[in-house]
Amino acid sequence: MANAYALGEAASRTTGQVDALFLFIGGVSLFFFLLVEGLLIYFAIKYRKQKGAEGVETPDIRGNFLLETVWILIPSIVVASFFYYGYIVFRDIRTPSPGATDIHAVSRQWLFEFRYPDGRMSINELRVPAGSPVKLILSSDDVIHSFYIPAYRLKQDMVPGQYTTLYLHPDKAGTYDILCAEYCGVAHSTMRAELIVMEPGAYAAWRETQAAPAGRSLAEQGKALVEKSGCLGCHALEGKEKIGPNLGQGFGRKVLLADGTSVTTDEEYLRESIYDPKAKVVKGYPAVMPTFKGSLSPDDVGAIIAYLRSLSGDKEEDKKKEGEKAVEKEERGGKEAPSAQKGKALTETLGCLGCHSVDGSGRVGPSFQGLFGRQVELADGGKVTVDEAYIRESIARPKAKVVKGFPDVMPDFEGKIPEEDLSAIIVYIKTLKH
Ligand code: CUA
Repeated sequence: MANAYALGEAASRTTGQVDALFLFIGGVSLFFFLLVEGLLIYFAIKYRKQKGAEGVETPDIRGNFLLETVWILIPSIVVASFFYYGYIVFRDIRTPSPGATDIHAVSRQWLFEFRYPDGRMSINELRVPAGSPVKLILSSDDVIHSFYIPAYRLKQDMVPGQYTTLYLHPDKAGTYDILCAEYCGVAHSTMRAELIVMEPGAYAAWRETQAAPAGRSLAEQGKALVEKSGCLGCHALEGKEKIGPNLGQGFGRKVLLADGTSVTTDEEYLRESIYDPKAKVVKGYPAVMPTFKGSLSPDDVGAIIAYLRSLSGDKEEDKKKEGEKAVEKEERGGKEAPSAQKGKALTETLGCLGCHSVDGSGRVGPSFQGLFGRQVELADGGKVTVDEAYIRESIARPKAKVVKGFPDVMPDFEGKIPEEDLSAIIVYIKTLKH
């Protein structure tokens, strides 16, 4: 792990900043600790009661203006410098980086899911090119998790029903741990992911081998949702306004609210306004929008935000994405034959092995070893033979047929794993017969 105490380049600019701040506070604290304790010991020895000495009267001191001023002033300056230095670093970490790529990170018991602007999705693996800033939009599907990259010295809570953000500055290529730093249930300790920072050239080459599973970018998915959900009945994209504010140019602006305060229309504001439209109504518009809680999932809202962002943003980037997608479509021509090896790799990258072992030992879920072809008892008392159909169903909708004795906690993967990957996983599970 790269840090300021070891030689070598820091993994991220935040690494050096936080380490320098830590060393500064640690160093100053150590200096005053040694000074105060040193004087204490020195005086205790120097002014100890001499053997045989009798009746020396202690001088009666009622105060010393100079001394008191000094011992109030110096610690105040020291503490204020801690605050100021800490504030400077904090401000830099929290300041939006221009041109950052938006990546949505969703946490779930017990994995991290990443959604890229082009519609790609990955589990427990965040791959980014070195040198380009990334804006992570963090959310949770269940309980509070915490997104922690020790090598970057960055940590941010992932809160259900709220977006939080984190800016990454991946300066150095390498693989870094991402850990969940908030106790979130039985498999909390296995909830980890990898941040893979690649050289820009290697990243571009790798990107070309990747297919977008949905075939549509996140913004395109959002556009379809905006049209389907009736948003355009009240919101124009641009030009003459309808009942609500225009959606084009609507992202990242400062707007005045009906209650006189103002707010920046960022991800969190848009999320809140879709789920709870009456909470923060823009001044001059009637509070008539219905809530979309229940009809638009958090994933849908993420896609809509990507769309709104693309409306107010750089058309250049969109064009670039179109180009990348054309390349992807060609790449998808040659399909790889399903192999157990690929399936094995998938169970690792998808996070299956966080809860399922392959050696027969019991974890959160049933072990994959000897699972295929076995008859298992279900929680509802029924019985089922573990065949291909059952495995497919259990990956898509795990809550449908839960094996007896295991908690009903696996997340849905319906529509998230391409068909060829699913077959590969099944081939792999079949090989784990004994
Ligand atoms: Cu998620 Cu701990």
